[in-house]
Amino acid sequence: MARLRVAVLISGRGSNLQALIDACADPAFPAEIELVISNVPGAPGLARAERAGIRTDIIDHKKFPDRASFDAALNLALDGAGIELVCLAGFMRLLTDGFVERWRDRMINIHPSLLPAFKGINVHERVLAAGVRLTGCTVHFVRPAMDQGPIIVQAAVPVLPGDDAARLAERVLAQEHKAYLLALRLIAEGRVQVRDERVEINGASGPAIAALMNPTG
Ligand code: GRF
Repeated sequence: MARLRVAVLISGRGSNLQALIDACADPAFPAEIELVISNVPGAPGLARAERAGIRTDIIDHKKFPDRASFDAALNLALDGAGIELVCLAGFMRLLTDGFVERWRDRMINIHPSLLPAFKGINVHERVLAAGVRLTGCTVHFVRPAMDQGPIIVQAAVPVLPGDDAARLAERVLAQEHKAYLLALRLIAEGRVQVRDERVEINGASGPAIAALMNPTG
């Protein structure tokens, strides 16, 4: 069976990208990364792609007069590579509604909280300040509103006594890598459908699959 042709969009470190690269290195994995795009020249994630022999493209948002022309350049690169699914992995640019609609149900994002709680940035600091006992991560289809859209996978992570933002971020990140892989695998296997803005996996409603993920593992 043909593998799903994926592009990963990054702005920085690229540890989620690395998790996807490692999974796709297995020819039995149902997706392959055709292209990595960074909007930041020199983003460390680019070197990860290069090491893996994956094509990279730098599309620097600062070189475009507005969001629409930047997004048009993204589309050109994605179309040129025959991309079927876009994975945002630490991509720190807001995309235009037109771009998001064009990739509706074909673009996913990972966020380091249990959405819809704690959208936006500085998530772990806000989680600690709020005193919640349980946080986690979410992989979701992208919609025009930031950090919103049908949820594919979630993993829960306990907030432990003595946690600071860095320690909590590290434990959540370990789960992000697993959650992103699971979401990509489910989509590439054709097991994910969006109905009434909720995800169904093999016909079962909701992100219950995340309950399978070991929160402490
Ligand atoms: C992750 O925490 C992700 O959830 C958020 O940005 C961070 C990116 O990390 N959207 P990395 O670049 O994948 O290491």
